[in-house]
Amino acid sequence: MSADQITLLHLSDLHATASGTLFETIPVAQYVQDLTAQLPRTAPGLDAVVVTGDLVHRQDAAAYHGVFSALSALREVFDISLHLVPGNHDVSDHPAFSHPACHQHAGIQHAGTQHAGTQHAGTQHAGAQHAGTGLPWSRQLGPLRLIGLDSSTAELGEQQLHRLREILREPAPWGSVLCLHHSPVDSPLKNLAGRGLVDSAALADVVRGSDIRLILTGHYHHVQSGSFAGAGLWTTPALAYQQPTDDPQQLSGEVVDRPMYSIITLTRHSWSAVPLELRRAATISSQTASLQTASSQTARPSATGHHTASS
Ligand SMILES: [Fe+2]
Repeated sequence: MSADQITLLHLSDLHATASGTLFETIPVAQYVQDLTAQLPRTAPGLDAVVVTGDLVHRQDAAAYHGVFSALSALREVFDISLHLVPGNHDVSDHPAFSHPACHQHAGIQHAGTQHAGTQHAGTQHAGAQHAGTGLPWSRQLGPLRLIGLDSSTAELGEQQLHRLREILREPAPWGSVLCLHHSPVDSPLKNLAGRGLVDSAALADVVRGSDIRLILTGHYHHVQSGSFAGAGLWTTPALAYQQPTDDPQQLSGEVVDRPMYSIITLTRHSWSAVPLELRRAATISSQTASLQTASSQTARPSATGHHTASS
């Protein structure tokens, strides 16, 4: 890890299925493998990967094995840590979200500010978490603190907000990055109106004046930046498909098969986010292709899917 910069791969909305394709055409299982091959060129020096929910599509529990294996392989190739929070399509108490691989890495130090003395390495203080979910979690990434919340029901609830207040009681050297699925800010798209975080006002009361400097979310399947209660806000585009932002009335009802991800760079005094389009495996150079697994290529889907989706 660089002494003056931390780089995050921000993924969201993978919508993996047990069959390997979404809407029978989008090869979501292949996307993580393509990404693993592309990252050495687009984002050298990664420190961690954050996935802000919807790992699977419509609670397809059988899909977790494949998507988690792909994410674990990515984590191992780059020797980075993996941090997951659930979305509304997830099985929020699935073991993937509390898997030891999600919080075991040489660069990770568990927050000594939370219940010091009662916490063992690699574990969370279960008594204050959502039952069975391992959330919220708080993990130290060098001088930066990552905090994950469960918004799979579209709201955080008083228990999680209380826990968040406890975590934030002692600031981190570089401040905190909050990771959750639902944005606390509305989308401009008609079909996503009112689909953000329900208890955003209560979250604002906790965020304002705290050391939270950036909030990472997904859910909308389109990129959006802004601010919330004094913190920066970045909603990453989805890895599975995008909602077309040039059609705010959503008259077409189509979604766009354009897998995307974000690279987040933080220093002590700044952060930046760059959205990137995933290049399909066929366009990846021979230099990076050697990092791919031996699995076969899948047929490329059409550029635009004619599907309606629930983000
Ligand atoms: Fe989604």
